[in-house]
Amino acid sequence: MRRVRYHEYGGPEVLTVEETEPPEPGPGQVSLRAEAIGANYVDTKIRANAGSIFYRPLPGSPTGDVVGIVEAVGPGVDPGQVGHRVTALVDPDAYADFVLADAAWLAPVPDGLGPGPASLLTVAGPVALRVLRAGNLAPGETVLIHSGAGNIGALAIQLAKLLGAGPVIATASTAEKRKHALDLGADVAVDYTADDWAERVRAAAPGGVDLVLDAVGGAVLSEGIDLLAPMGRAVVYGAASGDLVEVPIRSLFGLRTVTGFSLLAWRAARPSEARAEMAEVAGYLADGTLRADVRAALPLTEAAEAHRLLEDRATIGRVLLVP
Ligand SMILES: NC(=O)c1ccc[n+]([C@@H]2O[C@H](COP(=O)([O-])OP(=O)(O)OC[C@H]3O[C@@H](n4cnc5c(N)ncnc54)[C@H](OP(=O)(O)O)[C@@H]3O)[C@@H](O)[C@H]2O)c1
Repeated sequence: MRRVRYHEYGGPEVLTVEETEPPEPGPGQVSLRAEAIGANYVDTKIRANAGSIFYRPLPGSPTGDVVGIVEAVGPGVDPGQVGHRVTALVDPDAYADFVLADAAWLAPVPDGLGPGPASLLTVAGPVALRVLRAGNLAPGETVLIHSGAGNIGALAIQLAKLLGAGPVIATASTAEKRKHALDLGADVAVDYTADDWAERVRAAAPGGVDLVLDAVGGAVLSEGIDLLAPMGRAVVYGAASGDLVEVPIRSLFGLRTVTGFSLLAWRAARPSEARAEMAEVAGYLADGTLRADVRAALPLTEAAEAHRLLEDRATIGRVLLVP
């Protein structure tokens, strides 16, 4: 079978297709025959070794959201799973014809759901839902959703409205992305690469923002905290800018809260809630409540091109690799 690894850090071209034997599932694991692999932006940072928070030793392999059929189960796993169509966060060796996944965190794919939306079942969907809940979103509140045209941002805009949010202000770097955010239900879309972006948000939310969702970090996070209304909350779940800015304690004295979120930490701390949220998102994607777009479906051998698409910051919708 084919798998994609890299043996040096660098640009997309370091991704190499190798021939190897299909992996055997160990205890608690299943092997999946991959139908499609959702490629994630964070893996471009890890591949480039872009700062200490993204460090992983060599040889490296991208992670991914793999949609596939359970081919075999390891010791301790119910053999009745064989043949089921599921999605899993796979780490390592996600870009491959066959992958290994943790049997405890498989998301069953609802009948008829295409590989693009199905690839959002394990990570993007549950993260989008949980960051809104971690931020205690209450009906009618104003929400600022950064990177609103990204996989998580796009779902978060729709889920915020579903949960009864008031005005949703989305940010994005291009006019096309801002239009997409508006199409998904955002009330206002702001270019956060412009120097005056925070002023534009202030104009749209004169009383301040009740909840900020931030996976950018750096100055965007600092300014976002300053935009919070009294009792406002910021949920930080990533650092796409690579800048893990420090939050000055004095910025919180205006009755503001900053909360961090990681899906893996949430799964470990509250497994039954995390599973229920996976199922909840699956229901919304299956019945069309949530819209999910696919930007590109590329052959597995074009993994480097998939990373170029993610890095050029022009993607709207999922980038899939298809074995
Ligand atoms: N905490 C968790 O458990 C968890 C889980 C999964 C993902 N994440 C994080 O969540 C974030 C979004 O993930 P995703 O799957 O939605 O990714 P995605 O679809 O690739 O979206 C990432 C967005 O980041 C924005 N961005 C901001 N600064 C950027 C920069 N310097 N270079 C490139 N893009 C930049 C881009 O939007 P603009 O062009 O509009 O700026 C892009 O749409 C990532 O940072 C990821 O690491 C966290």
